[in-house]
Amino acid sequence: MTAPLTGRPVISASGLFTPPESITNEELVASFNAFVDQHNAANPDAEALAYSSVEFIEKASGIKARHVMSKAAILDPDTMCPRLPERGNDEISVMAEIGVIAAREALARAGRKPEDVDAVLCAASNMQRPYPAMAIEIQQALGIEGFGFDMNVACSSATFGIQTAADYIRAGNAKSVLVVSPEITSGHLNWRDRDSHFIFGDVATAVLVEDAAIAPAQHWEILGTKLKTVFSNNIRNNFGFLNRAHPDSAGSADKLFVQEGRKVFKEVVPMVAQMILEEADRLGLDPVALRRLWLHQANAGMNRLIAQRVLGHEASEDESPTVLDTYGNTSSAGSIIAFHKHSADLGAGDTGLICSFGAGYSAGTVFVRKVA
Ligand code: COA
Repeated sequence: MTAPLTGRPVISASGLFTPPESITNEELVASFNAFVDQHNAANPDAEALAYSSVEFIEKASGIKARHVMSKAAILDPDTMCPRLPERGNDEISVMAEIGVIAAREALARAGRKPEDVDAVLCAASNMQRPYPAMAIEIQQALGIEGFGFDMNVACSSATFGIQTAADYIRAGNAKSVLVVSPEITSGHLNWRDRDSHFIFGDVATAVLVEDAAIAPAQHWEILGTKLKTVFSNNIRNNFGFLNRAHPDSAGSADKLFVQEGRKVFKEVVPMVAQMILEEADRLGLDPVALRRLWLHQANAGMNRLIAQRVLGHEASEDESPTVLDTYGNTSSAGSIIAFHKHSADLGAGDTGLICSFGAGYSAGTVFVRKVA
């Protein structure tokens, strides 16, 4: 650890926590349709709610199952949301707990001790509470000195976190930064909404961004990072501390995830494809030569189109791996899960792209090259 710092950021390792419980489309649709039957029987004069279907979900999204933190409550037609027992202030909170598991794996893979880490960013689309920051709780649970703070850029949180961490390295303000993304998205999903009840799943990821001087022999050089935001109401969640006092609005559907899925699809695909191509050009990289794309996992069709525009041909599973089928949309964690599970086979010199996009709109790219 005595080598002088280089100011060049790398990804030293990643980590993943996958909740043991998982819900298949069949289980999800059976529960949703039981709710529809109950609702229609209890409201004979209202417009009848329609059934969901396994075939639609798989065809429209590519999702076959999703991991969750609280399966029984989500599938109970009388509850249909996660029920995680409240914990005392002297116990670790759920988000911190799963973030710590992912972070420990990243640290172990990098051969890094907590005391060598300078900062923790908790980058996720929902925080369990406003303060104290989740990142500081994770920092304390791991035994890290230095500082931590939370960042929320919806589905792009992890790539925004990686650029922020990389900037600390570039500026010489830190040599080792953990970016942790615990995504308990089942809590913001409206499980009673037919258009979106199948979308999300729970997970936690961690990425260790470090100065090249201290990185383990096997690491990923960060060639460049780029962020973009353009305001849109097409993915929105109005939950917040200012509306808890309004009994007429608390619990209404707009206090959970809502989207205009078709518009999102149509507007985000060209925005992200163009951003990737411009950034590749800026970095002097041939997009066609990219060995692998680890794309945000929201919709298989979106990923197919984006990969095609970047690579110039229909991407194979090897070129653009999907984890959407078993994880669902895990918000900011999706591209990191894909990277974590599908990067070990690449060789030294291979170049790839971690890319996320989502509400805001927001998008982030992290071009990487494998070293050793
Ligand atoms: N089961 C069966 N049918 C359903 C259904 C369900 N659960 N949900 C919707 N449908 C029906 C609709 O009623 C509609 O029927 P109609 O044509 O007779 O009116 C039809 O399926 C198409 O609905 P639509 O909502 O237009 O579907 P879609 O093909 O656009 O797919 C999404 C929906 C959400 C999967 C898709 O738009 C998408 O993935 N968009 C991008 C989402 C995204 O990335 N969001 C970011 C989140 S971070």
